[in-house]
Amino acid sequence: MTTTFSVEPGGSLRGDLRVPGDKSISHRSIMFGALAEGRTRVSGFLDGEDCLATLSAFQAMGVPIERPERHTVTIDGVGLHGLREPQAPLDMGNSGTAMRLMCGVLAGQPFDSVLVGDASLGRRPMRRVTGPLAEMGARIDTGEHGTPPLHVHGGQRLRGHRHTLPVASAQVKSALLLAGLWSEGETCVTEPAPTRDHTERMLLGFGYDLHRDGRRICLQGGGRLRGRAVEVPADISSAAFFLVGGSIGEGSDLLLRHVGVNPTRTGAIDILRLMGASIEVLEPREIGGEPVADLRVRSALLRGVRIPPQLVPSAIDEFPALFVAAACAEGETVLAGAEELRVKESDRIQVMADGLSGLGVRCEVLPDGIRIQGRGVLEPGTISSDGDHRVAMSFAMAALRARGAIVIRDCDNVATSFPDFPGLAARAGLEIRVT
Ligand code: S3P
Repeated sequence: MTTTFSVEPGGSLRGDLRVPGDKSISHRSIMFGALAEGRTRVSGFLDGEDCLATLSAFQAMGVPIERPERHTVTIDGVGLHGLREPQAPLDMGNSGTAMRLMCGVLAGQPFDSVLVGDASLGRRPMRRVTGPLAEMGARIDTGEHGTPPLHVHGGQRLRGHRHTLPVASAQVKSALLLAGLWSEGETCVTEPAPTRDHTERMLLGFGYDLHRDGRRICLQGGGRLRGRAVEVPADISSAAFFLVGGSIGEGSDLLLRHVGVNPTRTGAIDILRLMGASIEVLEPREIGGEPVADLRVRSALLRGVRIPPQLVPSAIDEFPALFVAAACAEGETVLAGAEELRVKESDRIQVMADGLSGLGVRCEVLPDGIRIQGRGVLEPGTISSDGDHRVAMSFAMAALRARGAIVIRDCDNVATSFPDFPGLAARAGLEIRVT
């Protein structure tokens, strides 16, 4: 049996809430905390399945990690040379971030290891990481199609390398920088467009020297990380469902507290504003090296837009939610240059197009994007999320503008990034039932 969300039509989102911690920063807090010397205390940690997979992997490599209370983790770091050989394959569950970043960590270890994941992760491309790591001297075997499971051969001597990435990917960039920690000499990564820079900010925060020059990031191997306190802001990718819901639900007025607004992540705010959304960024401040703010969203009449290609990397995880906004807008929305969406937890272009079509929305699937004809009001319907957490939560919000109930099947994986989504959404006013 899998989880189903049934959402009654109409209504608005109101009040004041804090969505869970940032997934990207939570993964990295465990990784850097484990590899640092001394204690790291993480608050605001996302206790979702993806980050818990990372946490379990480091425990399996001998790192003492405790969870004294919800959203809090303490890690007694073992240093860059203190990991122990895991006794079983490391299960990364549904998490591409965990698997790709772990490749960078494991490539430089003296022991062999195996990385596995669920059916969705088992279909995701890994050569984008294993290829450039091989240029540094790493040996990682993939499955036949470049997919997991991955066999990482330990005991390799890694050498720094100058990488130029063909795809804008923070995961690939991060894996290479991580491998650079155990490499001789300098590792540099040049990205084609800016992607989320949490790895760079956190390396600096953990006391590691790193240089940025435009789109190039360089570090020397052989340094040390020092344990520290990490405060994880609320995840803008989780806030995005509420930004869309608050925009399309008539009479909505919602305050989202303490949201991470790192400029490499705020594309969804920019795109929604282009569409006519009313989103205010209040009390901007900086916490632990990351910009944070409260976001106030009020309902607004949205219009279709051509999404500027330069905003794609900074909104990459928010497109399922943005497609729902586009379906409720007046006129056409066009997205191109986003082929990456096809290799996320699902093929997010096809799965969203199928779901929206089921709600009466005309969509044209493009090789690298989608064309959506907004229709203001959606028809009722039943949708499969294809096991994709962000698809499930996006369609839950779509009910705010539907003529009848929307039922979403296959919602188990919402727990990977947003364990209490139904509870929080209900508190804000969504009439959601979980069976
Ligand atoms: C992430 C990077 C992005 C994003 C993912 C998290 C990260 O992936 O989609 O959810 O934490 O580095 P890509 O780097 O593959 O675009």
